[in-house]
Amino acid sequence: MAAVVADLLATCPVVLAPMEDVTDAPYRALCRSLGAHLCVTEFIAAEQMIANSRLARKRAALAQDDRPTAIQIYGADPDALVRAAALAEAKEPTYLDINCGCWVPRIAGRGAGAGWLRRPEAMIEMARRIVAAVALPVTVKTRIGWGPESDMPIIDLARRLEDAGVSGLTVHCRTAQMGYTGRADWQWARRAREVVSIPVVVNGDIACAEDVVRALTDTGCAGAMIGRAALEDPWIFGEARALLAGQPALPRPTDADRLAVFRRVMLDNVAERGAQRGVTCTRRHVGILGAHLRERLRPALFATTELTATLDILDRAAEHASAAPGIVAA
Ligand SMILES: Cc1cc2nc3c(=O)[nH]c(=O)nc-3n(C[C@H](O)[C@H](O)[C@H](O)COP(=O)(O)O)c2cc1C
Repeated sequence: MAAVVADLLATCPVVLAPMEDVTDAPYRALCRSLGAHLCVTEFIAAEQMIANSRLARKRAALAQDDRPTAIQIYGADPDALVRAAALAEAKEPTYLDINCGCWVPRIAGRGAGAGWLRRPEAMIEMARRIVAAVALPVTVKTRIGWGPESDMPIIDLARRLEDAGVSGLTVHCRTAQMGYTGRADWQWARRAREVVSIPVVVNGDIACAEDVVRALTDTGCAGAMIGRAALEDPWIFGEARALLAGQPALPRPTDADRLAVFRRVMLDNVAERGAQRGVTCTRRHVGILGAHLRERLRPALFATTELTATLDILDRAAEHASAAPGIVAA
């Protein structure tokens, strides 16, 4: 089973991270068109999956061309997670991923997400049960520990998760208590990688294509997962792939590129959600425009929920956009 995940990462080691309210089907399609390959859905609560809620149906629905994509589930109750895993499997994702890394108090505080790091025994048993319940490969995405420990539990956990039959591990190289503070220390992913033979994916603070190369080289990991950087810079996937293939660095996106990509996300969201909701939910992707365009257009874009007016703003900006590389958001 681990070979399935290893093969996917060998095809392209740069993975789009699961991000709630961001990496939905239209955004996965966008990132793929710019070089991403393997993607993970937004996390889906086990209870929602079982209740077949509208949200769960939407997040778990995978179109034929939306592959390879893993479905990620989360929860605190192992019974519910096992049931949810079987239901997720029926959606025919590439594999299943269990979220053991979400630090947000409303999730981790009730034992889900990174809350599992406080109960490593229970976490291993839960993973073992899910692996036994489904035929697809099962991976785990977690952090290096709950924190602050002097010796991070991720090393022991990695070994034991492999023993439990898990086919791959993504390590966000911070403790749960760090949230997003401090720096992700990629060396923990390296150390976890050294003790297992399943593929390990390094995650945390990979901000540009050069970082992808550095993270993979420094850790020897099979993959590098990109979260926040993909929000403002979906071009990172193609740029990283070019560098990894030993090709010259790709030119940075121009303002015209940024406007075209933002327009496309807008139209895809409108097709998926209807005009008004499509326009408002695309606001979360305004970072794609890059710092100076975003600053200039944000007031007008946020002042309307009308599709025609929004397209007009973008089209007018495009008429004046230079084809020279744009200023890239930090
Ligand atoms: C808006 C947002 C939503 C996220 N949602 C999820 C999620 O649904 N599942 C998950 O495992 N991690 C989630 N994460 C965490 C990311 O997948 C990733 O582990 C984290 O941001 C660190 O990587 P980065 O430094 O590249 O952003 C989310 C992060 C952000 C910023």
